[in-house]
Amino acid sequence: MAKERTLSIIKPDATRRNLTGKINAKFEEQGLRIVAQKRLQLSEVQAGKFYEVHKERPFYGELVSFMISGPVVVQVLEGDDAVAANRKIMGATNPANAEAGTIRKEFAESIEANSVHGSDSLENAKNEISFFFSETEIVG
Ligand code: CMP
Repeated sequence: MAKERTLSIIKPDATRRNLTGKINAKFEEQGLRIVAQKRLQLSEVQAGKFYEVHKERPFYGELVSFMISGPVVVQVLEGDDAVAANRKIMGATNPANAEAGTIRKEFAESIEANSVHGSDSLENAKNEISFFFSETEIVG
C-alpha cells in the first residue's frame, strides 16, 4: 500500500449543520490523518474553477451556487491508499446508493448537498491539493 494524500471538502450543507467534527472523526477512526485544514467562504469564481471539469454538465450552475451558499472546510487527508480509502469512507455520490456507515449515508441530504467531496484519482488529488494549499501549509 502506498502512502498518498487526497483533497477533501466538507460542503456547506455539513458546515451549516455543525458536522465538521463528526465527519473528521470518520476520517481519523478509519486511519486517515488530517495534515492540513482550513475553513473558507469560496467565491463564485473559485468554485467555478474548482469544478471546471463539470462545466458542460446540466448541474454545473446549481453546484457552483450550492458550494458558495456557506462556508466549506478544505482539507488534505494522508494515509495508505488515501484516495480510494477516502472514497470508501465518503460512500457513493448519491446518498441513496451509499453504504451504511459512510459519511454520505449518515449525513448527506441529496446528490448535490452530499456533505463531502473527495478527489477521484491521485493525479486529480495533486491538482486539487495545490488549488487550495501551498506545500508549507501541509504538515504530515
Ligand atoms: P463531488 O464529488 O463534489 O463532485 C461533483 C459534484 O456534483 C458531486 O459531488 C455532486 O455533489 C454534484 N452533483 C449534483 N448533481 C449531480 C448529478 N446529477 N450527478 C453527479 N453529481 C452531481
